[in-house]
Amino acid sequence: MCGIVGYIGNKEAYPILIKGLHRLEYRGYDSAGVALTDKNGKLSIYKAKGRVADLEEFCKDKNISGNIGIAHTRWATHGEPSNQNAHPHYSESESIALIHNGIIENYAVLKEQLIRNGYHFQSSTDTEVMVQLIEYVKTLNKVDLCTAVQLALNEIIGAYAIAVVEKDNPDQIIVARKSSPLVLGIGEDEYFIASDASPIIEYTNRVIYLEDEEIAVVSRHEPPRIITIKNVEKTHEIIQLEMNLSQLEKGGYPHFMLKEIFEQPQTLRDCMRGRIDVSCQHVVLSGIIDHRERFVNARRIIILACGTSWHAGLVGKYLFETFCRIPVDVEYSSEFRYRNPVIYKDDIIIAISQSGETADTLAAVELARQAGAFVYGICNVVGSSIARNTHSGSYTHVGPEIGVASTKAFTAQLVVLSMMSLCIARALKTVDDAHFFRLLQELNRIPDKIEKILKLNDAIKNLSKIFTYAHNFIYLGRGFNYPVALEGALKLKEISYIHAEGYPAAEMKHGPIALIDSEMPVVAIATDNGMYEKVISNIQEIKARNGRVIAVVSENDTVVKSIADYVIEIPATEDCFDPLLTTIPLQLLSYHIAVNKKRDVDMPRNLAKSVTVE
Ligand code: F6R
Repeated sequence: MCGIVGYIGNKEAYPILIKGLHRLEYRGYDSAGVALTDKNGKLSIYKAKGRVADLEEFCKDKNISGNIGIAHTRWATHGEPSNQNAHPHYSESESIALIHNGIIENYAVLKEQLIRNGYHFQSSTDTEVMVQLIEYVKTLNKVDLCTAVQLALNEIIGAYAIAVVEKDNPDQIIVARKSSPLVLGIGEDEYFIASDASPIIEYTNRVIYLEDEEIAVVSRHEPPRIITIKNVEKTHEIIQLEMNLSQLEKGGYPHFMLKEIFEQPQTLRDCMRGRIDVSCQHVVLSGIIDHRERFVNARRIIILACGTSWHAGLVGKYLFETFCRIPVDVEYSSEFRYRNPVIYKDDIIIAISQSGETADTLAAVELARQAGAFVYGICNVVGSSIARNTHSGSYTHVGPEIGVASTKAFTAQLVVLSMMSLCIARALKTVDDAHFFRLLQELNRIPDKIEKILKLNDAIKNLSKIFTYAHNFIYLGRGFNYPVALEGALKLKEISYIHAEGYPAAEMKHGPIALIDSEMPVVAIATDNGMYEKVISNIQEIKARNGRVIAVVSENDTVVKSIADYVIEIPATEDCFDPLLTTIPLQLLSYHIAVNKKRDVDMPRNLAKSVTVE
């Protein structure tokens, strides 16, 4: 969470920084700020509570100029969203300014020491401690800024991506990272700094990803110098980014979320391209083929993830157990990392993360690696921390996902898990050839079927109007569609702020059915698959208690249609691929309800896209 951006070059920094903040706003949006050094070496900070637009409003009649600057958009951890707590923060003498993404765990101890040494604090953030500590160390040891940053970071426990500027040194930005992402963009006599590549791609596609505990000294006229906090010099390969600018624009859609929902036929084709051959006879995942023996001999699979990615993991459990007959545990990364789990050396760990930066998943991966397990990553962001900290993996290849609510990344995670389970099943011979070919052919048809479902958008928009003012929702599914019920409920609550629960349909009678009355909308996934009859009985139980049922059914269904209040008809598919289709109408329903309620769909309150704090 939090987005950081920096510029040093010959252009005016302010417009570049503001544009960069807008691109990073998905990472946090409760306050924003910018620090600039002007031609005369004057270092000024401007900050405002609220969105980046509020910062722009605040700055609009100020005479802001300078070719070097750093900027920040915040998701509060320590200290409420306010002007004081917004970044950048000054040091005691106001000669150093710093922005930070991460959490400093030992900030309280350090703060106490600094106060004893005469330092005064203006904010209640952990970040201010860093900038004060840097100044303290610099003054005490009479060293330059880079050395001071290095010494200070050796005292710090926690996660950080920081950028630091100094009044007396207006041709330099010092950056550093540990467990929070940081990218350097290499232009012609200009350099960019950002939490991800999205603010950079407009100016250059040449980037360097910093590693943990590395510091870069970025000056206008020379290549960045990279050293570790332990003073080891490093060289880094410059990477060419493949991202393009149109992926970062709304392309005529009112929201990124809607654009991303509609992109799914294409993103899933991209995800399968080169992995399923045209004749649908083979699935080629090099990340698995290169480690075939490990997968074939796996005692167990443990899937680690959070939120929507965890829901994908749950579908993964059904896939691996059905096709590979390998037992699978699906764990919340945040629980797994702290509960001394049993990990065997012949376990396969699969970490799923769109951003590849989720702090809990990253820490859980680290724990599993230390226990000697083999870790496979399913990430979307190329070069992200989780992707780099796993032994092998598959990217989802859906391009940047900007809407805070995950949509296209989720369906691509399902496709990767489907391809993985089929690839491993083939090696284990747990699925016969005819079945294998049939499944691959069907997986290949999924994007066309999603295109068909997207044509229901207007009908779902009309349906959404009936439920805009509901206070609660229940989502029901069974088998492969149980995780979809969880995901449908999560989508609704995160963007519309309506309370929603997902349940395996048969569990209703063990308690939650007490909630059912005529005020309670129930979204039931009742496609014509293995659990069809059972789900029909569950719907009957809801109707018998006056619940209002919106059912997602297979085309040509007659039975559920005659019981449910509203139906959404979608094409039929294999049981195991049902989640790829049933999730689409639920994404659209949540989206339209949130729009009807005038919610900020792409940046819902209290949330951030990349959860880099635990
Ligand atoms: C919900 C959502 C979150 C993320 C979760 C994990 O729409 O986006 O629940 O799925 O924060 O994020 P990643 O996948 O980046 O690890």
